[in-house]
Amino acid sequence: MDMEPSSSHISQGVADTDSSRQRSTSPQSVISTRSLDSQDLTFVEAHGRTYANDKYYMPCDSPEQTRLGLLHHVYSSSLGGSLTTAPISEDVQRILEVGAGPGDWAIAMAERHPDTEIVAVDVAVWDLEGDRDLPNNIIWEIDDLDVFPVDDEDTETEKKGPSSGSAATPLTSIRTNEWTFTEPFDFIHIRGMKGAFRSWPTVYQEAFKALLPGGYIEVVDFDLTTIHTLHNTQLGRMLVALRQATEQSGYPLTGTHMEKATFDSAGFIEYRVRTVNVPFRIAQLNDAETTIGKLWLVIFMEGLEATNLRLLTEYAGWTAEQVREGCDKVREEFKAGYHDEMNTALRYVVARKPGGDGSEQEGTLSEVGLEMEVDTHIIAASDTDTMQVD
Ligand SMILES: C[S@@+](CC[C@H](N)C(=O)[O-])C[C@H]1O[C@@H](n2cnc3c(N)ncnc32)[C@H](O)[C@@H]1O
Repeated sequence: MDMEPSSSHISQGVADTDSSRQRSTSPQSVISTRSLDSQDLTFVEAHGRTYANDKYYMPCDSPEQTRLGLLHHVYSSSLGGSLTTAPISEDVQRILEVGAGPGDWAIAMAERHPDTEIVAVDVAVWDLEGDRDLPNNIIWEIDDLDVFPVDDEDTETEKKGPSSGSAATPLTSIRTNEWTFTEPFDFIHIRGMKGAFRSWPTVYQEAFKALLPGGYIEVVDFDLTTIHTLHNTQLGRMLVALRQATEQSGYPLTGTHMEKATFDSAGFIEYRVRTVNVPFRIAQLNDAETTIGKLWLVIFMEGLEATNLRLLTEYAGWTAEQVREGCDKVREEFKAGYHDEMNTALRYVVARKPGGDGSEQEGTLSEVGLEMEVDTHIIAASDTDTMQVD
């Protein structure tokens, strides 16, 4: 069922249009944003959750906003309070935040870099203000950044998503829809966007074009494939069903968007990945680890329904009740200690667009990397850091 968003939701979610906004937005975004003023935006309500559109699988409602806020805390704790592993300079001019969500990262970054212009783009409207003041160096935009090769004769289906019921159709690479930002960025940040894009190579091509020479991209996600101890468990069954459902939806939840080859194919160099393992448990950890372990557990439990509900009901033939019962069983497994040894690998991938002044020398990135503040003590398992310089 389509639902009109409340007017307060819209006014909270959309910043006023002013001259700096016009200067910085893509033409597409201006159009999208104006469509909100004309009440064109619709949300989709299904099984008691609210979604931004008929495509993206995660909800954009108040419980999800709370969960994303907690998740932001885990991410920044995993870096000892830092917001990025990219070696960006203090006076970085322009940053693009792709899929900004309720804006926790964009706001924290804007506060730390008050002279930096941050363009925060999301396809959903979130309650941005809540009880906080928004920094005025963020430009909020509503836009769909999902780009992929499309057949000219297939324009009707180009934005087709899960609710269309269509499986991933291989599309011939005749034309590609594009990002249309009018000014380049020094840094592009993409976090927690697994499953949001149909063609990551195409997204990276657009990011490459949108960056200045020498600019950095950072992609952050957690890795479901590192979850162990799953045989004969409800968690294992749900993860298998989830993977199959996302493959059918055309937006597979894989880790290929974190692989070097995917960045290479778009022209990026100096691929580097930092992995931080976050525990799921609360026993046998020191105080700081216990805090993160507890928080991560709460986020995971809350995320079970948010992650599975739409995909399993639309693609795997589960009813909403079956999904909720499945989530309850997984919670019981955690309480019973089945998954006590589980860690999640948070991965931070950074790569650079060639060019720029003087940063072409080998070793530059690793030297900067050494200066990064990463408190390995806050995380129970090992911190590993690997880098490959082209
Ligand atoms: C899991 S949330 C992560 C939010 C934020 N990056 C963070 O780390 O807190 C994914 C976000 O991506 C947005 N999103 C999904 N598909 C998108 C698209 N095609 N274009 C822009 N944003 C999108 C969703 O609305 C949601 O806010």
